[in-house]
Amino acid sequence: MVGPAFFPEPFVLPFAFCFDQSGDNATNLKRLLRPEPYTQTPEDKEVQRLLIAGGNIPKHVAVIMDGNGRWAQERGLPRVAGHQAGIASLRDTTRAARELGLNYLTVYAFSTENWNRPHKEVSMLMRLLLKMLREELNEMRENGVRLNTIGQTNALPKEVQRELFDAMDKTSQNDHLTLTLALSYSGRWDLVRAMQTLALDVRRGKISPEDISDTLLRSYLTTRDLPDPDLMIRTSGELRLSNFLLWELAYSEIYVTQIYWPDFRREHLYEAIRAYQTRERRFGLTGSQLKQDEDVSDEHRSYVDRFIRTITGNN
Ligand code: FPP
Repeated sequence: MVGPAFFPEPFVLPFAFCFDQSGDNATNLKRLLRPEPYTQTPEDKEVQRLLIAGGNIPKHVAVIMDGNGRWAQERGLPRVAGHQAGIASLRDTTRAARELGLNYLTVYAFSTENWNRPHKEVSMLMRLLLKMLREELNEMRENGVRLNTIGQTNALPKEVQRELFDAMDKTSQNDHLTLTLALSYSGRWDLVRAMQTLALDVRRGKISPEDISDTLLRSYLTTRDLPDPDLMIRTSGELRLSNFLLWELAYSEIYVTQIYWPDFRREHLYEAIRAYQTRERRFGLTGSQLKQDEDVSDEHRSYVDRFIRTITGNN
């Protein structure tokens, strides 16, 4: 793990864009990044009401936020601009998730493998993370969002760790939505770590090998307090799990959109949830073994679909 050695304390990099901020691209980016005052529109309230009435809102949505680099490069901007723009997507997605009554939102913010990116990109990501934690704290506190994290957080720069644990502490009593940032996380890392701890407990005689079950192994994972995701969304069109929640995604529905993460907004979350509502989760059973949802008419479902297509412009 290269984390701590990679970031001498204190940070020496100033938080400033390391690219030319003149011209159209920069103007557009500044407009995008300006923190906008937030008020929910009546149309948005209506679509959320319909979506909820459609039944079967997932409790836990996991997201692989991908495509930041490509988004930036297509605009002639450095990759870090894509990461910065991605924070606005996360903010809007979190707001909508909370309004819809999702209980858990888990996002892949920085993978174990991401440490191997160029030093400058990693440093900027850490800077952005710090800024995000500071700037979003008030809204999380006001909106009942509990901040949580999974991953090897002791690999993060000390300053980030302090801010992260402070934000987690200050939001620990919130109970509307748990927002989990996967940081320095990978599914295999968590499984290996869990196996090591479990093996130690066997050696100490605390458990015997025969006791090892799905439930027991699960209790050793960093995700032990989260239910498995019902829905996993991946942006930017890639059809991979990329070492995310390998154990937990066993029965999750997967939704892939071509949209790059910095362009992802609540409407895209609604589309993913609509797709989820039309899926039949069988958990290894046959279709006829499962009780059909009889409460929601096809007419209602197609009305919601038309409504979402109208607001997303996908007619
Ligand atoms: C993948 O895009 C995305 C990331 C590595 C970081 C995602 C983080 C955020 C959106 C912001 C919040 C979190 C932090 C840590 C500030 P990519 O760079 O792999 O895109 P590409 O596939 O187009 O190259």
